[in-house]
Amino acid sequence: MCGIVGYIGNEACQEIILGSLQRLEYRGYDSSGIATLNDDRLQLRRSVGKLSELKAKILEEPVSGKIGIGHIRWATHGGVTEQNAHPHSVNGEIAIVHNGIIENYASLKEELMDKGCVFSSDTDSEVLAHLFSNMIGQGLDPKRALETVLTKIEGAYSFVALSKSYPDSLMVARNASPLAIGFSDDMVIVASDATAIAHLTQKVTYLKDNDYAILTSKSHTIYNGENEMVNREVVKVNVSPILLDKLGFRHYMEKEIHEQPDAISHTISAMTDSNGRLTAGLEDYNLSKIKGIVLLAAGTSFYAAQIGRYWIEKLAGVPVVCEVASEYHYRNPVASFQTTAIVISQSGESIDSLMAVRHAKKLGLDTYGIVNVVDSTISREVDKILPTRAGPEIGVASTKAFTAQLVVLICLAISIGRQNGKLDEDISNNIHQKILKIPSTIGKSMNLFELILPISYKLKNAHSCLFLGRDMLFPLACEGALKLKELSYIHAEGFASGEMKHGPIALIEEGLPVVSFVSEDEISRKAVSNLKEAEARGAYIIIIGTQTAVNMIDFATDKIIIPNCDPILTPIVSAVPAQILAYLTALEKGTDIDQPRNLAKSVTVE
Ligand code: G6P
Repeated sequence: MCGIVGYIGNEACQEIILGSLQRLEYRGYDSSGIATLNDDRLQLRRSVGKLSELKAKILEEPVSGKIGIGHIRWATHGGVTEQNAHPHSVNGEIAIVHNGIIENYASLKEELMDKGCVFSSDTDSEVLAHLFSNMIGQGLDPKRALETVLTKIEGAYSFVALSKSYPDSLMVARNASPLAIGFSDDMVIVASDATAIAHLTQKVTYLKDNDYAILTSKSHTIYNGENEMVNREVVKVNVSPILLDKLGFRHYMEKEIHEQPDAISHTISAMTDSNGRLTAGLEDYNLSKIKGIVLLAAGTSFYAAQIGRYWIEKLAGVPVVCEVASEYHYRNPVASFQTTAIVISQSGESIDSLMAVRHAKKLGLDTYGIVNVVDSTISREVDKILPTRAGPEIGVASTKAFTAQLVVLICLAISIGRQNGKLDEDISNNIHQKILKIPSTIGKSMNLFELILPISYKLKNAHSCLFLGRDMLFPLACEGALKLKELSYIHAEGFASGEMKHGPIALIEEGLPVVSFVSEDEISRKAVSNLKEAEARGAYIIIIGTQTAVNMIDFATDKIIIPNCDPILTPIVSAVPAQILAYLTALEKGTDIDQPRNLAKSVTVE
């Protein structure tokens, strides 16, 4: 959360920085700002609200110069005000943009104030600006200034600093928050992720934790935490501009829902060996070592993990626990039966998930990552990646990355089961054949937009909504509820259908929407009586399932029929109508679908 950019080169940087900020808007969007340097003058513009507000301000008061920094904010310390927006500047001499949290900012601020520094914001970030101002004021050159500032701060951060005393350099550093440096012959650009700069250059270097660097228009010199000059690998990034375009859809989310057949087929291809067998990208040797798994994830990825647990236990007979990443490393988990930690993350940058997998590594577990952004920090830190090939996901609410994660998880479950003898070849081939059909099955689901539209008219006036499911459809119910609440701001909760009678049924009143996922298996039949109880108390029942499954619930008011699929694949296919329901309800309510209030796509603070 929060996106940062810095540019130094031969061209006027205003539009370049704004263009990159636009591509980072998924990371935060409550305020933004830009600072440039020209003719010994630091020019600063900041605005509350979306980037469009900053652009409007800049239209009236442009900034000039060929060196500058920009920021898009998702507030952590300090409210959403212009004063708290970045860049933070001191005396028109220094400007900084920062992503992350300076954990010891309070004591630093006190020290700095004792020395006479005057703070103008409530942020943790402003201490960076004052620290740089002090160091440069003492005559330190950019490298020494950076080196010294880094000895003083603690926490997760990436930042870019600009000083009037050194108009030909940018100072950058990272620890736990991502930072990519892109370069060509006549410019260097740095940003929170490579998609923000891939339209300008394909040559990118990622800083590692504790690295810092001095950038000039012709060079980027990187140092590690021991202050040694280091070379970091240069990778070729290839983010097609087409993938970042809405291509005529109203929102990125709508586009990304439609991209699921492709996302899934690319993911399946990445999981298949030359004989067409699902390998999950792992050697038999790796698979045979897996005797117990901990799945680590946050948000939507966590619900993918929970569904994955059902598959891995059912198909591979391997014990699995799922851990909310933000809780895992703080509670001294015991890993006695576990051999393997699998972290699931779309962005590969969620700090909670990163910290969790680092902790698992410390416990001696093998670490794998199911990650969509292959150049991300998590991808680089785990022993092996099982990539989802969903392509860039821009809408804050995850859709195609989620279903791609599910595909990886079921492929993994089959691979482990086949390897340890729990699944015979016939059964695994049979499931494999069904998995290959998922893209076309999901393709057929796109006509559900029309069917679901009238339901969204009814849902938009609801104050609350329950989502129910049993077995592997229980975590999907939780994901359905999450989608609805994050997009439409309607309170929603997911429950295991069987739990209704133990409490949630008290919430049922006339007209309360209850969305229930059902499949054709035995256990879903038990959900029918749970639903009947809700209906008897006046709930408005909406059912999602195949025709055969839905036929079991003739008393439902609305029925969303998904294309036929094997019960074991229902969580993947039924995820799509849940996404469409949340999308259309939000559309009806007029909320900000791609950038819901208070949320960020990639959360890089704890
Ligand atoms: C944020 C996003 C969610 C996402 C979660 C985990 O909270 O708003 O949509 O599911 O982070 O993100 P990750 O990139 O680790 O999957």
